[in-house]
Amino acid sequence: MNEQVRDWVRAARHIAVLTGAGMSAESGVPTFRDAQTGLWAKFDPHQLATENAFRANPSMVWDWYAFRREMIAKVDSNAGHRALADFARRHPGRMTLITQNVDGLHQRAGSPGVLGLHGNISQDKWLDTPHACCNADAAVPGSPPHCGVCGNMLRPDVVWFGEALPLQTLTLAENAASSCDLMLVVGTSGVVYPAAGLARMAAGKVVVVNPHPSDLDDAADAVLSGTAAQLLPQLLED
Ligand code: OAD
Repeated sequence: MNEQVRDWVRAARHIAVLTGAGMSAESGVPTFRDAQTGLWAKFDPHQLATENAFRANPSMVWDWYAFRREMIAKVDSNAGHRALADFARRHPGRMTLITQNVDGLHQRAGSPGVLGLHGNISQDKWLDTPHACCNADAAVPGSPPHCGVCGNMLRPDVVWFGEALPLQTLTLAENAASSCDLMLVVGTSGVVYPAAGLARMAAGKVVVVNPHPSDLDDAADAVLSGTAAQLLPQLLED
């Protein structure tokens, strides 16, 4: 372990952490862009992760998310998620955890106040602005479930390509980035904005944790080559 980075962790009053799909890889959740195993190597994001795709083929998109929901329900958080949650428990108020992941594994590991930039795959929301008749609890089951009166469809509560990030969450994340002494950037390719821009606006040192090169290496003060589950427990122990 890089002793200098451990010193930065010990000295930091406020640590911001930005995680991406690689954070959950060792839990068995595929990343998006890994060459062989990444979801986008096998599926076209424009057919699955846009509003237009959902409107054109709602059952196909709904079923793809249902398949991912089932997969995520079967996996557990890994040692990396747990190291972050344990640190936050030991050091209340010292860490802000920002994630691009929709799998809920940080929350399952016990991390408090997770800022989910891209939503939560286990929740639904209405595709169109709901009317008085739209009651999610009474939705007609199906693929996707829909309002039996007006036909409005439920969709996964995730951010699709071309959609805005939740403004309040993004603002809190930007505040954390621009006031931190240290940012840990874990398991992200760093190609999707505005999330990746948070690393570029970090006020303090930036440390990348990734087994492969990423687009944020040029913004980093240190690049640690290794996986989240290997490196975070060492980096964050007292
Ligand atoms: P990517 O799939 O683009 O990148 C995953 C990163 O994790 C890569 O840099 C890998 O090298 C790294 N990685 C793989 N295994 C790892 C491990 N065990 N430990 C640490 N790092 C590892 O995923 P994201 O950067 O999260 O957006 O992608 C950003 C966004 O693009 C996602 O949130 C999603 C996607 O399309 C939406 O769905 C809106």
